[in-house]
Amino acid sequence: MSAPAILIFDSGLGGLTVFREIAAARAAANFVYVADDAGFPYGHIAEPELVSRVLRVMDVLIARHAPDLVVIACNTASTLVLPQLRTRFAVPFVGTVPAIKPACAASRSKLISVLGTEATVQREYTRKLIADFAGACAVTLVGSARLATFAEAELHGEPAPDAEIAAEIDACFVDEGARRTDTVVLACTHYPLLIPRLRRLAPWPVAFIDPAAAIARRVVELIGPAPAGAPMGTARLSFTSGRLPIPALAAALAGFGLEPIVVDTPALPA
Ligand code: DGL
Repeated sequence: MSAPAILIFDSGLGGLTVFREIAAARAAANFVYVADDAGFPYGHIAEPELVSRVLRVMDVLIARHAPDLVVIACNTASTLVLPQLRTRFAVPFVGTVPAIKPACAASRSKLISVLGTEATVQREYTRKLIADFAGACAVTLVGSARLATFAEAELHGEPAPDAEIAAEIDACFVDEGARRTDTVVLACTHYPLLIPRLRRLAPWPVAFIDPAAAIARRVVELIGPAPAGAPMGTARLSFTSGRLPIPALAAALAGFGLEPIVVDTPALPA
């Protein structure tokens, strides 16, 4: 049996944090990672436009790559477009949505924050996760306009100043005297790219929840474990803009196991 083809999709490079976990859990697969950088950042796109953009891009990518499974490694897209994707395409989709349930279960102070794009924290879907799963936990929603862009800059070798990152995460840290935030859900796949800086800039230590490992487990459940002795697969990356990575980014991509990189241009309709 041939290795399964897995398409991993995000607005940019944040989905690499999901890709690396999937590749570690299921190396015997052929991966295509597509960053819709021509549409980045998704957090700034209105809901109706984002739905039609993701469907249009996915039309092209599914026809081109014929994946056995698609991972939408983007909270901003998953919290909005998953139902339409599942209706339109027969291929299974795995989404990435804010890990509110495990965060609330793990929190001892019962004060958690959800850090995502401004769009994700406003979504109906996110509000419903809180209503259904927060229980006794108080949840602070923090929408960041710039953190995903800072994560992209970090991978391009142009890190944002500490003060600018600190300003984006500041509202996550709630101190009520008797109790304070002990858990922060990273509800944007870009943010784990900044994790050492988030830890360093946090005013006190908290658990940052990254759902990537759980997503990888779900992928393995769906496609099954690799047969014994199966060879390593391939890992290709492309940008919808058709650009080539600059050297600093190419070096960072190598660290994610995306070598050799074959950059193909999906030639998306305008
Ligand atoms: N990586 C995307 C997410 O998980 C968002 C970044 C963007 O605004 O495009 O939400």
